[in-house]
Amino acid sequence: MNNEATSISSEEKILTGDRATGSLHLGHYVGSLSRRIDLQHQYHQTILIADLQGLTDNGFNPTKVSSNILNLMADYLAVGIDPTKTTICLQSALPALSELTMYYSNLVSVSRLQRNPTVKNEIANKEFGTSIPTGFLTYPISQAADITAFKGTLIPVGDDQLPMIEQTNEIVRKINTIADKKVLVECKPLLSKTPRLPSPDGKNKMSKSMNNCIFLGASEKEITKAVKGMYTDANHLRVDDPGQIEGNIAFTYLDAFHPDADLVQSLKDHYQRGGLGDSKVKAVLNDCLQELLAPIRSQRELFLSDKAELLATLKAGTVSAHEETQQVLLDVKGLFGLNLFEI
Ligand code: TRP
Repeated sequence: MNNEATSISSEEKILTGDRATGSLHLGHYVGSLSRRIDLQHQYHQTILIADLQGLTDNGFNPTKVSSNILNLMADYLAVGIDPTKTTICLQSALPALSELTMYYSNLVSVSRLQRNPTVKNEIANKEFGTSIPTGFLTYPISQAADITAFKGTLIPVGDDQLPMIEQTNEIVRKINTIADKKVLVECKPLLSKTPRLPSPDGKNKMSKSMNNCIFLGASEKEITKAVKGMYTDANHLRVDDPGQIEGNIAFTYLDAFHPDADLVQSLKDHYQRGGLGDSKVKAVLNDCLQELLAPIRSQRELFLSDKAELLATLKAGTVSAHEETQQVLLDVKGLFGLNLFEI
């Protein structure tokens, strides 16, 4: 889908993760999944299902996390993440990640965590008040554990995750200073080139927590409903009126998903001249989204019809990740002089 990958050194280790708090949607597809599908052919790539991170604001509502683990698996496999090329693993089943978090916690001050802009934002939006869960405040440390445990060097993220990369690298430098050698490697963000997909109403970004998503598993009806209700140009009252493209969500989606850029351009020209109705534009978009999502939906259903198999695939990825992450844990314990014996 993009050629950018060819400019990346194949030494790079790619690590991405998703909080297991809901199924994936079209915003994930354009921003991140399509790129992971490309990257897996050239690089060592790991995808972490971050169930523990999902729990950091769902401690009292754990089924929101546990019930979504296999949904995520089905989403990945349905879009074409290949478990023979990408290691897919489960955070809570990898003790090294939690243990590393404990060691790193001693190197990060509470005020540093409170200054993390993403955490700060989330805390304000989630209205924790004075009851911020400790696990939530400290999740950047756990994310640093995730990244370093896999020796991740390239982290494909949206810009909201940049503060996590920064905190990870601070921890890496502290660890290397204590060890007086390079035990851990710093990582770099691989920023998504596509801007975040807006919600169909154009008011927000598409986001699980805002309930404004077109999910990968959306039914034909749900897709049609979302497209019909999509924000276009409020001043485009008559078909003959010239319409505006900027801020017109139907065109934003056509740009993001329609395979024929020339056709989209000619629709835009026509719309701007006047004479092209919203319903025609939406019909083209609807066809395109139905075509994109129909095979994903049926694959997804097929995968979900055999949960034992999905679980076995996740387990196999996690077993191989266990070995990898355990080694980094031993190194870190060693530098603190605390690997006296194994049990
Ligand atoms: N914080 C990421 C999110 O909200 C999820 C995540 C957890 C992650 N661990 C990670 C991302 C490690 C990249 C690397 O989506």
